[in-house]
Amino acid sequence: MTVLVTGGAGYIGSHALLRLLREGERVVTIDNLLRGHRRPIELLQERFPGKLTFVEGDIADEGLVSGVMAAHGVTTVMHFAALTYVGESVEKPLWYWTGNAAASLALLRVCDRSGVERFIFSSTAATYGQPGAEHVPIVETTPQHPINPYGASKLAFEQMLWDWCRQRASSGRPVGAAALRYFNVAGCDRGGLLGEDHDPETHLIPVILQAALGLRERIDIFGEDYPTPDGTCIRDYLHVEDLVDAHVRVMRALQPGETRRYNLAIGRGYSVREVIEACRAVTGREFAVRAGARRAGDPPVLYADPSLIANELGWRAEVTDLHAIVESAWRWFLEHPRGYGDSPARA
Ligand code: UFG
Repeated sequence: MTVLVTGGAGYIGSHALLRLLREGERVVTIDNLLRGHRRPIELLQERFPGKLTFVEGDIADEGLVSGVMAAHGVTTVMHFAALTYVGESVEKPLWYWTGNAAASLALLRVCDRSGVERFIFSSTAATYGQPGAEHVPIVETTPQHPINPYGASKLAFEQMLWDWCRQRASSGRPVGAAALRYFNVAGCDRGGLLGEDHDPETHLIPVILQAALGLRERIDIFGEDYPTPDGTCIRDYLHVEDLVDAHVRVMRALQPGETRRYNLAIGRGYSVREVIEACRAVTGREFAVRAGARRAGDPPVLYADPSLIANELGWRAEVTDLHAIVESAWRWFLEHPRGYGDSPARA
């Protein structure tokens, strides 16, 4: 069996590659390097000689992808490749529909023609939109009403997956599929090989750590007037290694004909202020914090009930302490203040 990982040069995809390679899986990854980095792929290839094939290209290129599937005998797909900025999706909706829905559909068409038996999709809490207080913590049956093109494009692909599974089951060639809905993924490989390098960076923890390193003037808090205990938004932060652990468990459990949907989260929320305090404690650095205006589209409180995957697969986040999540990121940021060093804007 060979696993195809799309988007393996990105933050989460590269951590998934590391885990799969550690498990002894044969892995091939396709990435167009639009936002991913060549360096983590090189590091993984050095660490696991001969075990990881990298193909630079786009998942929308059906000829390329079917060639890769046939050459490697791909039976499992982990689909991480995506555009992932909520704000950008509002500014460029058609680009997001193309990158996240149309390109993923092209990938699925190739899967349908090849020997793929299992498909595991990176979905998002953004598919739930802005659930009312009565729906928090979020469970998998919470209504999905995305409020931006990012969430909508991810939800559309979930629906394509379910339709594909239904049709394949009814035609006697069943396939298994899972949509894993991520909450706020954070932290870095605790072995120190891989990190988080987005350009532009907008995620809370890396932005704070860049401020702690003196690479940013300050951290702006997007709103202090939310209906939460300290007025700042609450999110459920999950360590990236726990996230990829869930993928491996799902991959091992998923049977032909099954569809699974799981929330991936620790099951408790931290406010923006709490995250800032955790970063101060871990880094021991002073940095400026400014209370600013709300950011459009931010729900006040998002955290999940992850008990479905706990009950069905025995998965629970191992790293539940926010300090430990921040520590793993800080170690990598201290050693790589400019990230992987190949982003034009920060080289
Ligand atoms: N925040 C700040 N200042 C910053 C950055 C973030 O105050 O400089 C706040 C945000 O307003 C939010 C919280 O920190 O309240 C977390 O923000 P992130 O940008 O780190 O993450 P989001 O919760 O907005 O988004 C994450 C993923 C998305 C996904 C979404 C689902 O990054 O891909 O969760 O809810 F769609």
